[in-house]
Amino acid sequence: MRIIVVDNYEEMSKKAANMVASQVILKPNSVLGLATGDTPVGMYEEIISLYKNEEVDFSKVKTFNLDEYYGLSKENPQSYYYYMMNHLFNHVNIDENNINIPNGMVDNIESECKNYDKRIVEVGGIDLQVLGIGVNGHIGFNEPDISFESETHLVNLDEKTIESNSRFFNSKEEVPTKAISMGIKTIMHSKKIILLACGNSKANAIFETINGKINPNMPASILQLHRDVVVIVDKEAASKLNLE
Ligand code: F6R
Repeated sequence: MRIIVVDNYEEMSKKAANMVASQVILKPNSVLGLATGDTPVGMYEEIISLYKNEEVDFSKVKTFNLDEYYGLSKENPQSYYYYMMNHLFNHVNIDENNINIPNGMVDNIESECKNYDKRIVEVGGIDLQVLGIGVNGHIGFNEPDISFESETHLVNLDEKTIESNSRFFNSKEEVPTKAISMGIKTIMHSKKIILLACGNSKANAIFETINGKINPNMPASILQLHRDVVVIVDKEAASKLNLE
């Protein structure tokens, strides 16, 4: 793992955006794996600026998002579909046929999940996956105790995740209790990974991910076994790391 400690959120966002843009410049038909949540918002803003400055072209890019809440429609402002349109896709020249986000409204979850993995394989796998991390160490919505062999599947959200994500909803009761998430195995098959984290609340998860034992209770710790991971963290998220 390569660890880059930066001063603040803005610096993290710029570095991550430059890495994503470089990937697309080097391979215009790149397959990007994308995350939602608070962490990558600044990165998406920077990517949009790069696009507006004509430094990067998304016309051939394909994207696969990590996850979607189960039971939320595309029109729901809390859905990850809505988030992605709002924070990135509406502002760049991506072809909407190249956007892939799990559908949280399907009846047949199993076939939706199988199909999602199949589509990733068919396009040749994910070239660059962007990840955030939960306070409990989840990546995607792969919660503690997950099987490292998991592919895209329906997950029960952890109490900590529901608590933490309630900030986006009117009340905790409104947070869906299930989601469709890319599995750890799917994530680990990505050719390159960028993990982003900011703030004190992520310090423990970052410490366990990088310096701890590989352990399903800390899902992100499996990234130690991936050959090309860059972790970009601000000083607060890095505060517990032993970087010798
Ligand atoms: C979102 C995702 C999650 C988030 C994580 C951190 O697509 O997969 O793993 O990256 O919950 O969320 P924030 O960035 O809101 O702290």
